[in-house]
Amino acid sequence: MQTKRKILITSALPYANGPLHMGHLLEVIQTDIWSRFLKMQQHECYYVCADDAHGTPIMLHAEKLGISPETLIKQVQADHQADFADFAIGFDNYYSTHSPENQELANLIYQRLQAAGHIVSRTIKQAYDPLKKMFLPDRYVKGECPRCGAVDQYGDNCEACGATYTPTELKNPVSAISGATPEQRDSEHLFFRLSDFAEDLQSWLTQGSVPKEVSNKLREWFEEGLADWNISRDAPYFGFQIPGVNDKYFYVWMDAPIGYLSSFKNLCSKSNLDFDEYWKASSENEVYHFIGKDIINFHALFWPAMLQGADFRKPNAIHVHGFLTIDGQKMSKSRGTFIKARTYLEHLNAEHLRYYFATRLSPRIDDIDLSFDDFTQRVNADLVGKVVNIASRCAGFIKKRFDNRLAATLDKPELLQQLIDAQASIAQNYENREFNRAMRDIMGLADLANQYIDEQQPWVIAKQDGQEQLLHQICSTGINLFRILMLYLKPVLPKTTAQAEAFLNTSDVQWDSLQNNLIDHEIQAYKPLMTRVEKEKVEAMMQQSKDENAAAQATSSQTEIMQSASPIAETINFDDFMKVDLRIAKIIAADHVEGADKLLKLQLDIGNETRQVFAGIKSAYAPEELVGRYTVMVANLAPRKMRFGMSEGMVLAAGPGGKDLWILSPDEGAQAGMRIK
Ligand code: 2FM
Ligand code: ZN
Repeated sequence: MQTKRKILITSALPYANGPLHMGHLLEVIQTDIWSRFLKMQQHECYYVCADDAHGTPIMLHAEKLGISPETLIKQVQADHQADFADFAIGFDNYYSTHSPENQELANLIYQRLQAAGHIVSRTIKQAYDPLKKMFLPDRYVKGECPRCGAVDQYGDNCEACGATYTPTELKNPVSAISGATPEQRDSEHLFFRLSDFAEDLQSWLTQGSVPKEVSNKLREWFEEGLADWNISRDAPYFGFQIPGVNDKYFYVWMDAPIGYLSSFKNLCSKSNLDFDEYWKASSENEVYHFIGKDIINFHALFWPAMLQGADFRKPNAIHVHGFLTIDGQKMSKSRGTFIKARTYLEHLNAEHLRYYFATRLSPRIDDIDLSFDDFTQRVNADLVGKVVNIASRCAGFIKKRFDNRLAATLDKPELLQQLIDAQASIAQNYENREFNRAMRDIMGLADLANQYIDEQQPWVIAKQDGQEQLLHQICSTGINLFRILMLYLKPVLPKTTAQAEAFLNTSDVQWDSLQNNLIDHEIQAYKPLMTRVEKEKVEAMMQQSKDENAAAQATSSQTEIMQSASPIAETINFDDFMKVDLRIAKIIAADHVEGADKLLKLQLDIGNETRQVFAGIKSAYAPEELVGRYTVMVANLAPRKMRFGMSEGMVLAAGPGGKDLWILSPDEGAQAGMRIK
């Protein structure tokens, strides 16, 4: 018997700002499988999470809907919890960062950090929207990239050339909220001195607390020197007021991870658990956070430093997963690949997705693709074709010929033993989060079970006289093999296993009762445990997602048009205008640009020469639909060096952006190089 561990596990907190999507599901399914597995090992294990309820986007979203942020976050949390429940995510507690416990803990952590001298205050300049009367987060300032000149870039980085900068560096900046030109205003802010923890963080990071790739990457931060981190925001802001200062709020990323503590604290008060036993600096209990690789800095630098500075323990490890792609594409509304959890549920079985993700998940941080063809094929071949099939092949005979009673002796003890012997290695794979290996091994065992049935041919024996006992033994053996497979799959398929337990008429599908074969035991009549994935349902789900994405895009484009009512630029004279040489260009090649979200690389024929131009039009055009078509380009623009190569001109585009962007000229009458003014 192994020692009983005390373990606390979390998933990243979803923003209370919109529906859950496939990316959220990948993470909670990964965490839930691990948590269910550890619970099956009889460890004392708690899985907690919460909605991340604060910040500017939530405040503005509520305002747009004409409701209070409190009402918005309540509605969203109810939807999140309903979705999670339908995917059988077994949280021990699901809470909100907008809670009394979170406020109390945020204050406590802040006050301890302050008392220990880790908080400093400084006045900084920030973009201020004079119409909206608020300071603007970087993402709410848009303008031209200071490096490559790409238009419509956010205030923190350029999606065209990858440059990072501050909003003050953007050219022709506008507020994405009101369209006003932002002012630079002074404001005093509170900073957390991350550098006070540099040494401890570095040693913590080398103790296996993050994957190797992550600690390697984080080394750059230390080499550059850890900068102070601004943890305050000015009013108006939806969050907690910082004690002892006027009208300043904790930055959402300050109180979000504290949500892990407060959700657990809330559970402690409901379940009579000892919070300190898990969180005191000397705790020997285990704490793990599951996150996506986009939020590593917050979890592997700021968060452990905050915990240490406030005299709490640091997590044992941060388990990081890669991004989810859908059919090889980034999840995006404009491509129609943004699939909501609820849309999936309206068409398909939640356990199918749990299983498919399990076949793709490992401790590595590579991106994971949800290919719906592969999904259909895997689920149908494995779960329906191999696992459930064993029960359905045997149960009919047990019912018809043996009154639903299993035999007193089984056939093929060595095969049963072979399945039982796989337990330790399957457990190791679950423990190490090598779920893909665990699934592969379980399906290997399912193959053996099916081979056994194929060889014994109970449907033939059933027709032979005097073979009653053998038929009974074979089918009872099949049912017992099925029981073992379901036991191994229990962390992944909790609902199907519960139905299988009802069918097997036992609650004994438990890790340490693996050897308790069902002998001379009455089972229930078999009802199909799972049906095949139908292609039509997948297609209907994809179509619904596309429709929902298009509707969402249309609404947000409308908003963008209204918001981009920026002032008209300085007047130019006719001569200036005539300096711009606009030419018809034939697109002779178009390619994706690795590492760029928005760009396509175009080769443009303008009569006597070919130009290479990078254009931010990927949201609207696939490369193949452009080749051979005509566009209009500024042919005498000075070449610009971009991260991906030289851009020798610019194509003209019209439209609000996203899918709605037009660059093509009518093909008829077009001629490469033709001057159009
Ligand atoms: O990136 C996000 O979706 C954040 N809401 C995650 C927060 S995780 C934790 F720190 F709260
Ligand atoms: Zn740029």
